[in-house]
Amino acid sequence: MAEIIDGKAVGEDVVARVKKLTAELVASGNTAPGLAVVIVGEDPASQVYVASKSKKAKDCGFHSVQHTLPAETSESELVDLIGALNADPKINGILVQLPLPAHIDSGRIIQTIAPEKDVDGFHFINVGKLGTGELATAFVPCTPAGSMLLIERVRGKDLSGLNAVVVGRSNIVGKPMANLLLAANCTVTIAHSRTRDLAALCRSADILVAAVGRPEMIKGDWVKPGATVIDVGINRIPAPEKGDGKSRLVGDVEFSAAEKTADAITPVPGGVGPMTIAMLMANTLVSASLAAG
Ligand code: GUN
Repeated sequence: MAEIIDGKAVGEDVVARVKKLTAELVASGNTAPGLAVVIVGEDPASQVYVASKSKKAKDCGFHSVQHTLPAETSESELVDLIGALNADPKINGILVQLPLPAHIDSGRIIQTIAPEKDVDGFHFINVGKLGTGELATAFVPCTPAGSMLLIERVRGKDLSGLNAVVVGRSNIVGKPMANLLLAANCTVTIAHSRTRDLAALCRSADILVAAVGRPEMIKGDWVKPGATVIDVGINRIPAPEKGDGKSRLVGDVEFSAAEKTADAITPVPGGVGPMTIAMLMANTLVSASLAAG
């Protein structure tokens, strides 16, 4: 049976380190790192994510502000808010929760965030740095960065020559994940909805990252014996066995079958999820430390 990778514990380690370094930064006369989280509209899942990001920032000793804007907010109002946050010296990190309402061009909004405050790593400058291997000065998107840390925990830092398959090609997870694995000298394939014979491709993966958002789509017998499986999916499905109207969370991987074949696998919940928030805290601290000089 596979090792179950405890993302909650690893995330807590990262957060504990962020707290300690934040206390040291403040003790040496600097202001606390500042994180501004912006949410537009009432998407229930986004509200939960944003509330936990703001709360974790407070726990770390950060200056934490949340801007909750109505769904009818115009694009130019949002641009103005980001402009004010860009200019605010108390703010080191700006996170605009995605997805935004359909009338707002999220691509344009992301590009208005100052690259040095782009703790999500979505601005072209940070995407370009990651794509060209300038990792030392890039903000790397939090979910792939956290997934990499989990992979290194179980496989060590040398991933050279391993076959990595990333299922999903989003800008938030799939593409940056592939770039991180490439920078670590893996042989990387990105699979997506048009990929032919996904099962055979997955069976070639020493490292399999699932980020498609489709419940249990990756079957257990697609997993290569000894593989490391990172399940980024968080899908809510009906759970009639728990009672009428109840639901439960599952990943993109058929966990009960995959854990029989894999060497190590992340659970859902408690795998990648806690790492995303932890890496956001780490990125915000880095931003504050750079601003402090
Ligand atoms: N929506 C889903 N994941 C993310 C993320 O990592 N950052 C932002 N801003 N929005 C998201």
